[in-house]
Amino acid sequence: MSELLKKVNVSIEEIPGLGSFIVVPKGLEQVITDTTSISGVDPRGENTLYRGYTIEDLGMNADFYEAAYLISYGTLPTEEEYKEYRKKVDYWRTRVPEKVYDALKLLPQTHPMYYGAYGALLLGQIYAPEWRLDKDYLYEHQIRLIAQLPVIFAAAYNLAYHGTFLRPEGELSHAHDLLRMITMRDHSELEVRAFESSLILYMDHGFNASTFAVRVVGSTLSDMYSAVAAGIAALKGPLHGGANEEAMKMFLEVKKKASEKGVPMEEYIVEYIKEKLARKERVMGFGHRVYKLKDPRTDVAAEFVRKLKDGETWYKVIKAAEKVMWEAKRIPANIDLYTAILYYQLHIPVPMYTPVFAMGRVVGWTSHYIEQSLDNKLIRPTEKYVGPVGLKYQPMTARR
Ligand SMILES: CC(C)(COP(=O)(O)OP(=O)(O)OC[C@H]1O[C@@H](n2cnc3c(N)ncnc32)[C@H](O)[C@@H]1OP(=O)(O)O)[C@@H](O)C(=O)NCCC(=O)NCCS
Repeated sequence: MSELLKKVNVSIEEIPGLGSFIVVPKGLEQVITDTTSISGVDPRGENTLYRGYTIEDLGMNADFYEAAYLISYGTLPTEEEYKEYRKKVDYWRTRVPEKVYDALKLLPQTHPMYYGAYGALLLGQIYAPEWRLDKDYLYEHQIRLIAQLPVIFAAAYNLAYHGTFLRPEGELSHAHDLLRMITMRDHSELEVRAFESSLILYMDHGFNASTFAVRVVGSTLSDMYSAVAAGIAALKGPLHGGANEEAMKMFLEVKKKASEKGVPMEEYIVEYIKEKLARKERVMGFGHRVYKLKDPRTDVAAEFVRKLKDGETWYKVIKAAEKVMWEAKRIPANIDLYTAILYYQLHIPVPMYTPVFAMGRVVGWTSHYIEQSLDNKLIRPTEKYVGPVGLKYQPMTARR
């Protein structure tokens, strides 16, 4: 225990007049800030769980509605509950307010994560200008966000970049409809299932940065829509959700250069990564704050990558990248390395990779918002001020 405290620089500081404070490591590394029963690493350290089930189990076997229901309410749905939940999600998916579509038509071409944050805030203004914290009301708004945020991403992106968009179709499953709206093309059953599985793999993940942002905003008693907008802002960064997009940019560069050089991609990527590491750059899609040996979600994504278009070729490239990263840095791949290829195989435009992550993660964000709100304590750490002290205001003429 004391070894860990020494290693991570935990100490106790006295601030005269204010009392004793625990100084924790930068970035809250290896710090537990609260409990949750939604998801997290199994206390035995073996798996990552959603409400007791491994992510892999759900990623392989559950559908979107079942997994979303489980994360939201804590148990897998009975047949009755499933039907009712599915009906509600499909109902709200097809009822994005017309005012929202009108507003999306005005947006410039920019990164689509902006569209999602903007859309979440628009929905908040329309649905919940007077926010309340009673349980039924919270669950009601959670469903609206789960159903409508993805539609907003897809519509806004296609409006801005293609001048047109597809409206939701209630008869299709949520995952199928989203894939259709994003790509504006048809997909096979296997492709839809691969996409659905990736949404499940992304649905929640303990106190990751965007979920923590959502909980911080929720802890101030701000509304769920504002909290989700904060989650989207945090997810956008390349160290978090933005990594799947960055990983694909790497694969595309490798594809291009390997073809110019006339060598296989799995051969060229080794050289590419070595050069990147020599320049002390990060290789996106590798590394994780919690997983130091393996990200368990990668196995499920790998199964789908291998079954889809050019799967075995891409799988070899991924494996070659993993090998060189492990030998050089002892850093394993994370889920984003695999979903990058998966989304490429599904014809999803690269800027939509992180929005797709958000389409799954909105289930986790809203569940954490509810968990935080129903047992709230304002999240407000204290800083250790290290700036100057005792200065006195001087008029501008006296400053030099
Ligand atoms: C996710 C991430 C931010 C977690 O990092 P962390 O727990 O804060 O660890 P650090 O950033 O302190 O990294 C520790 C060491 O590993 C190195 N490292 C971590 N991830 C790396 C990567 N992807 N490529 C190269 N080096 C990496 C760091 O450079 C650092 O090396 P140093 O000690 O020699 O300076 C980090 O692994 C990363 O930047 N990954 C790339 C982005 C990514 O894929 N994000 C998605 C995560 S699911």
